[in-house]
Amino acid sequence: MALLELKGVTKQFGGLMANYDVTLSVEEGEIVGLIGPNGAGKTTLFNCITGYYKPTSGVVRFQGREITGWSPDRVCKTGIARTFQIVRVLKEMTVLENVMVGAFLRHPQAKDARRKALEILEFTGLAPRQDQLARNLTIANKKRLELARALATEPRLLFLDEAMAGLNPSETNDAVTMVRKLSEQQITIVLVEHVMKVIMPLAHRVVVLDSGQLIADDTPERIATNERVIEAYLGEKYRAASRSH
Ligand SMILES: Nc1ncnc2c1ncn2[C@@H]1O[C@H](COP(=O)(O)OP(=O)(O)O)[C@@H](O)[C@H]1O
Ligand SMILES: [Mg+2]
Repeated sequence: MALLELKGVTKQFGGLMANYDVTLSVEEGEIVGLIGPNGAGKTTLFNCITGYYKPTSGVVRFQGREITGWSPDRVCKTGIARTFQIVRVLKEMTVLENVMVGAFLRHPQAKDARRKALEILEFTGLAPRQDQLARNLTIANKKRLELARALATEPRLLFLDEAMAGLNPSETNDAVTMVRKLSEQQITIVLVEHVMKVIMPLAHRVVVLDSGQLIADDTPERIATNERVIEAYLGEKYRAASRSH
């Protein structure tokens, strides 16, 4: 049984099909890359799975159970966490408090939530900043904090929406290392990223959206040579890169 299964997921905004008939499975333990041009519907798909949008039609199943239209809280409780493309840290709270907000989901006692939060802060490298206000963090650390808060809910499945955008090369390397470590800890990961040098070596499988529709679902190697994908998305990046070699 797939960990996550989408069948015919469609999300319509007025006349716009932001997602159209998306059918997709994610197996336990996979790292799946989700790519596609701006406006392709990647964030909308995350929102449809994690309860922020209710799909217009279609079915979302997690561990065999239908979760379509569940609230974000309920989806999170069942074991799915996500980060946001536009960071949503609680600016007036400290770093530790932000992560405790996540940890309270499974640890109602403050001392247990605090212990869990401290463990996650160690893992994400934010421990030295635990008492700072979140609003004073750099963008890279705000992104780390978002990841930390998501991890504090102890997910089985984690969605990362451009978690590495805006990071410098060394921060990106740290983030890639973190994703690999999470994968080793049996967390299944779906990530949206635009940097192919990051996604290709990291993902076991790459799924491509274009104008709301899934146009390819394959190994990174085959995606890189898929004509339709090159035309819709990779084209300019890849042609430019090969010209310069
Ligand atoms: N809440 C919304 N209301 C209306 N249109 C939306 C909404 N959210 C997303 N869209 C539209 O859906 C399309 C897909 O957007 P999005 O999922 O953000 O794409 P991506 O993340 O791939 O860049 C875009 O045309 C966007 O303007
Ligand atoms: Mg997006």
